[in-house]
Amino acid sequence: MFDIQSIRNDFPILSQKVHNHDLIYFDNGATTQKPQVVIDAIVDAYTKTNSNIHRGIHTLSQLSTTMYEQARQMVQVFINAPHDYEIIFTKGVTESLNLVAQTFSEAFLNEGDEIIVSAMEHHSNLVPWQMVCERKKAKLKCIPFNHDGVLDIEAYKNLFTEKTKFVSVVHVSNTLGTVNPIKEIIDIAHSHNVPIMIDGAQSVQHIPIDVQELDCDFFAFSGHKIYAPTGTGVLWGKEEWLEKLPPYQGGGDMIKTVTLEKTIYNDLPFKFEAGTTNYVGAHALGVALHYLMNIGMPYIQKYESELIQYANQKLAEIPQVTIIGNAPEKAGAISFEVDGAHCADIGMILDKQGIAIRTGTHCTEPIMQYYGVPGTARMSLAMYNTKEEIDYFVKTLAKVAMMFE
Ligand code: ALA
Repeated sequence: MFDIQSIRNDFPILSQKVHNHDLIYFDNGATTQKPQVVIDAIVDAYTKTNSNIHRGIHTLSQLSTTMYEQARQMVQVFINAPHDYEIIFTKGVTESLNLVAQTFSEAFLNEGDEIIVSAMEHHSNLVPWQMVCERKKAKLKCIPFNHDGVLDIEAYKNLFTEKTKFVSVVHVSNTLGTVNPIKEIIDIAHSHNVPIMIDGAQSVQHIPIDVQELDCDFFAFSGHKIYAPTGTGVLWGKEEWLEKLPPYQGGGDMIKTVTLEKTIYNDLPFKFEAGTTNYVGAHALGVALHYLMNIGMPYIQKYESELIQYANQKLAEIPQVTIIGNAPEKAGAISFEVDGAHCADIGMILDKQGIAIRTGTHCTEPIMQYYGVPGTARMSLAMYNTKEEIDYFVKTLAKVAMMFE
């Protein structure tokens, strides 16, 4: 059962006061808070088991290695991946996306080829592709979106040519909150025999993910946005693709044998995990996912879906507020503007009332260019937020909006 009070009690930071007000943390799109079990997992690992993984015959190294590999299996279960060796631990979604952009383009991208992304990508799923396209003299094409923040699927279909080599699309927009129809987007890519990666940074914490049902080729997410430590992330890829890609970085653990002349690379997943990884962080990520599975992702999705609809409706009732992005299905984030006010001023005033939101371009400058705004204020929700918090936020924002009239 979804017990909101018990969940809130699991997150010690939520009982903080900020500027003498109860903290209302609405900046979950930037990073989520950590439950006590995750904090304890980090402290326990450094207190009791810390030792480098895959490198020692001694007890602590064996323990550490087991914890790391169990975390990999936890990720496998969480996203229903067919094999644990298809899970690559990275330092975050940005590294996961860069890994694929760099290695795929090295192996398969040639002059004149084309890559498709959407116009609502976070910079982390846009800039890496711009970089590889520039290097390979390839072309980057963008799926447009309409004023509601909904991708134009007909335009997407028309972007494909015989030169299209790869598609990489965000599942949920960090700025607009739009939930993109990724199953349809994936099926369209596959109807052209083109592989596709999904950026799940803003979806995996809100929506149950089943990579086999989605049938995407790659799925990437960050740990810190799903109640796990910073510096952790995941790239899942189909075995057939991961086998075809060259290594991303060279170093320890990604090798089988090395001579001065030549290296034989290691098997999956180690081929993509050069150097000492953030093994304690990965363990804590596994603990976070286990914690979420105990609550149940479908319950989380249902609760959050009601929460975001409520917030959207209440915000829309403030006359001076304009919501940026009105997709029929939203998750996590709501961007808005207040008449006559710069978003940074809104953010600063709300902070004085204990309310944390993000303001600015949210690493999506092309979205700001589309709407012709310098930035937006963005509230972003997590499973521990409540309608009472939304009520206080909306009441406070309404007063602030009147100040700027
Ligand atoms: N990408 C994160 C956000 O949307 C940092 O805030």
